[in-house]
Amino acid sequence: MSDINYYRGNFCVEVHPAPGSLVIFGASGDLAKRKLFPALYHLFRRNLLHEESRIVGCARTAYSDDGFRDHLRPFLTEGTQEQQTAFLAKVCYVPGDYSDSGFYRKLDNVLNALEAKNDLPSNRTFYLAMPASLYPAIIDKLSENGMLEESPEPDAPWRHVVLEKPFGRDFASAEALDRDLHSHMREDQIYRIDHYLGKDTVQNILMLRFANLVFEPVWNSRYIDHVQLTASETLGVENRAGYYEQAGLLRDMFQNHMLEMLSLAAMEMPASFSPDDVRSEKVKLIKSIRPFDLKHLDKTVVRGQYEGYRAEPGVAPDSRTETFVAAKLEIANWRWAGVPFYLRSGKRLAARKSEIAIVFKSIPHSIFAPIRARDMQPDTLVLKVQPNEGMELTIQAKQPGPKLCMGGVTMSFRYSDLPGGESFDAYERLLLDAMLGDQTLFIRSDSIAESWRLFTPLLENWESLPLETYPAGSDGPESAARLLFADDREWRAL
Ligand code: NDP
Ligand code: BG6
Repeated sequence: MSDINYYRGNFCVEVHPAPGSLVIFGASGDLAKRKLFPALYHLFRRNLLHEESRIVGCARTAYSDDGFRDHLRPFLTEGTQEQQTAFLAKVCYVPGDYSDSGFYRKLDNVLNALEAKNDLPSNRTFYLAMPASLYPAIIDKLSENGMLEESPEPDAPWRHVVLEKPFGRDFASAEALDRDLHSHMREDQIYRIDHYLGKDTVQNILMLRFANLVFEPVWNSRYIDHVQLTASETLGVENRAGYYEQAGLLRDMFQNHMLEMLSLAAMEMPASFSPDDVRSEKVKLIKSIRPFDLKHLDKTVVRGQYEGYRAEPGVAPDSRTETFVAAKLEIANWRWAGVPFYLRSGKRLAARKSEIAIVFKSIPHSIFAPIRARDMQPDTLVLKVQPNEGMELTIQAKQPGPKLCMGGVTMSFRYSDLPGGESFDAYERLLLDAMLGDQTLFIRSDSIAESWRLFTPLLENWESLPLETYPAGSDGPESAARLLFADDREWRAL
C-alpha cells in the first residue's frame, strides 16, 4: 500500500507493508542482534511494521521465547521500556536443527497458529542470516515442506526469501547457488541483500542524476576527468576471521558494495523507476566494464594486507588474504570512454569513509592570468555515503577582499540537517522493502553473474599480484598511491 503526499514541491511516497510473518534463521547470531532486530524495532517505533505482523527467530541455540527476548533487549537501545516490551511481545523463538524436517513442520505449525490467532494473512518472509554454506540445505527443506509455495491467485499470500551475501565465491559457485535457488523459487521471490543499497546517499545517486537537470549534461567523458570510489574502514577483521579468511576484501567489498555504487553512478537512465528497469541498467553497466588485462595486472590492481592481520584471532600465521584492494576500471561505452574509475577499499585504514567523488576536468582556458587553468583545483562533486551522509560540490570562487584571490569553496548538504534526517539504518529500508515486495534495492541474479564474470579471472590470477603490507591506520599500500601518480592524479585524502 502506498500514499503519495505532496508538500511545497516535495513529495513523499509513504509505504505500509501488509501484515505478515518474518522468520529469521540465524537469529542467535551477530547480524540478527546488531542489525536486524534493532532495525525492526525502529520500524515498529515509526509505525512501519504492521501492527499484526509477527517475528519468529530460529537457530540451534536453545532459548525459550522469554530467554530470546532477554537476549535481544540490550540491543534495543532507544525508546521507552514499554515500547521495547511491546515490540518484543511480537517476537517468539523456535529452536531447531536445520537438517531436520521435523523442525520445519514445527515452524510451519507455529506460523499457522500465529496466523490463526492474530487473523494474519499467510504472507511470510524468510530471512537467512547465517553462513551462506547453509542456504541450499535450508531452501531445500523449506521447499520440501511446501513452505515456499505461492498460489497463482491474485493477492494470494506471498513467500519471500531474503539472502545475505556472499552469493558464491566465484562465477561457477554463484551459478550453482542460483540454479539451486531457482529450482525451488521464482526470481521475484528472492531478495539478495547488499546493505549499501539501503543507505540514503546510495539511493540518492538516482535522484541526483535523474531528478535534476543540471548534472546529466556534464555526466560524461566530455566533462568528467575521473571518478574515485572509496570505502575505507578503521576496523580490522574483528571476530570474523572464519569468514574473512575465506573471502578477503575483493569478495567482501568489491564484488558487491563497490560495484553497486559504481553501477548506480555510471549507468544510463532507466526507462522507469521499476525494479526491473533499474536493475537492467545496472547489469548493462557491469557488462560494459572492460575485463582486467591479466598480463599487466600490476598496472591496474593493488592488493594489500594490514600489518598485524596475521596475529588476529583465527587468522593463519602465513595468511595471504587481502584486507585492501585498489583498482582502476574502465567502462567501454560512449559515455565513459577514457574516464578511469579508481576504486579502493580496505580495513584498518586512517579513517572510516565511503564516498563517490566525481572529479571534473580543468577549464580549457583561464582568463585570470597569471593563474593558469591547470593550476586551478578541478570542480569536484562528492557523494558522501558515510559518515556525514550528504553531498559536497567544491568549485572555484573569488575569495573575500580587495585582491584577485581565487580558491575552492564547498557547497554542501547533510542528511542530518534535513527534517527526518536522523539516523535510519540501511537494514530498516531493506527489511521494509522485502516485506513490501519491492525488489529495486535487491540484487538480481544476472547482476551477480556479471560481477563474478568480471572478478573471477582476477581471483584466478590473484597470486600473480604481490601482497603488500601497510601500517594499520595508514592510507594503505604505497602502490595504491602510485596507481594514480602513474596517471598524474592522486587519491583524495581519507
Ligand atoms: P554468524 O556466524 O554469527 O551466524 C549466525 C548464526 O548462524 C549463529 O548464531 C548460529 O546460530 C548459526 N550458525 C552458525 N554456523 C552454523 C552451522 N554450521 N550450522 C547451523 N547454524 C549455524 O553470522 P552473522 O550473524 O555474522 O552473519 C549472518 C549472515 O550475514 C552471513 O551470511 C554473513 O556473511 C552476512 N553478513 C553479516 C554481517 C555482519 O555484520 N555480521 C554484515 C554483512 C553480511 P546457532 O548456533 O544458534 O544455530
Ligand atoms: C560488510 C562486510 O558487507 O560491510 C564487512 O562484510 C564490512 O567486512 C561492512 O565491514 C562495511 O559496511 P559499512 O556499512 O560499515 O560500511
